[in-house]
Amino acid sequence: MPNIVVVGTQWGDEGKGRIVDLISESVHVVARYQGGSNAGHTIVTDGETLVLHHIPSGILREGKLSVIGNGVVVDPKVLLEEIETIKSLGYKVDEDNLKLSDGAHIVMPYHKEIDIAREERMGSSKIGTTGRGIGPVYEDKAARRGIRFSDLIDPESFSVRLKATLEERNIYITRVFERNPLDFDRIYEDYTAYGKKLKPFVTDTSKVLNDAISQGKSILFEGAQGALLDVDFGTYPYVTSSNAGAGGACTGTGVSPTKIDLVMGVAKAYTTRVGEGPFPSEVSGDLGVKLRELGNEYGSTTGRPRRCGWFDSVALRYSAMVNGVSGLAITKLDVLSSLDKIKISVGYRYKGELLTEFPSSTEVLKHCTPVFEEMDGWQKELHNVKDISSLPSNARLYLDRIEETTGIPIWILSIGPSREKVIFIKDIFS
Ligand code: IMP
Repeated sequence: MPNIVVVGTQWGDEGKGRIVDLISESVHVVARYQGGSNAGHTIVTDGETLVLHHIPSGILREGKLSVIGNGVVVDPKVLLEEIETIKSLGYKVDEDNLKLSDGAHIVMPYHKEIDIAREERMGSSKIGTTGRGIGPVYEDKAARRGIRFSDLIDPESFSVRLKATLEERNIYITRVFERNPLDFDRIYEDYTAYGKKLKPFVTDTSKVLNDAISQGKSILFEGAQGALLDVDFGTYPYVTSSNAGAGGACTGTGVSPTKIDLVMGVAKAYTTRVGEGPFPSEVSGDLGVKLRELGNEYGSTTGRPRRCGWFDSVALRYSAMVNGVSGLAITKLDVLSSLDKIKISVGYRYKGELLTEFPSSTEVLKHCTPVFEEMDGWQKELHNVKDISSLPSNARLYLDRIEETTGIPIWILSIGPSREKVIFIKDIFS
């Protein structure tokens, strides 16, 4: 069975959690490779809606191993709450089915403080972060002053690292942002308690994953956010601070690229974005609001209204290229069912010139206007559609056009939030 990476191909919230939940039935291990509690993967199972921030969606499947890799930044308080919520719904979570990398960095209170203070200070040029401390924790990782689980579970090492880092971060907080310094004792006490509770889960997950591969087990690598929020290939600086793209699967888990067989991209049948930054196919006015209401497009972590727009083939082709996407899962097609006209962005106009490639410059992208193709909608509910041949013909034509304009085949189609509202077009495990 193949080892698969599942990446979001837009600006996040494509429905990766739902797709990972489905595919996880056919793999042995699900490994999350980047991001942190900025992500919220919503899963609907047996009528219950569950939002996971750190734990891979595979945790809901019996007999599957869930791994939080070294590339993830973990807020231990949020993770402990997540574990409790999953348990309260009757699912098993213990050290046998959940492993947490000893190399994963920890989100500390000063990270959140800096994230929020910085956004306030930036005013109209802010990024629109989730305020979960994600940028500052990855900053500390790169600056080599971060705190990892290997430190947290060893109170002495934790004390030394916290003292050094907090001293420096407090200078920053008080002098740059003119805020109060954070108290060592309080943080030390809270975090050693979290460390004690999480210790049984902490291990060398790279070894766990490579051993699983050696035993012929298959791994599903789960990304958070989306390729256009990738710190290297996204719409910088309006991005998150990690590699949300497929490359992050290797650096964020310690599994070599030679072990990965394929990359599946997830895309909504339209596009959304939370936070600031360019979004060429964005729809403003009543139609934008209508799309948001139809798709219930509110952030699962922050509750912020998402910006909505049409499917953007130009952006998707770019995402597919930088991530090596072989096939797509298209989600939320049902959201478009009531519309009489649907558009796809097939190019951009920049200073009068037609662009068919996604510009690498965010400044150029900011000034691009979309070139749309308009198609007739299908205006029929899709909830009872069981296979691709029973789709209304205009829905089929719309999907064909997505395939033609992106050059990527559609493998999975999701037409509703619950587990059974999905059509498998290709058997990716054959
Ligand atoms: P940060 O990751 O909180 O630093 O936020 C950086 C940018 O990524 C902001 O525009 C956020 O809205 C966006 N972002 C972060 N996580 C998600 C997500 O899970 N879905 C969609 N956007 C996200």
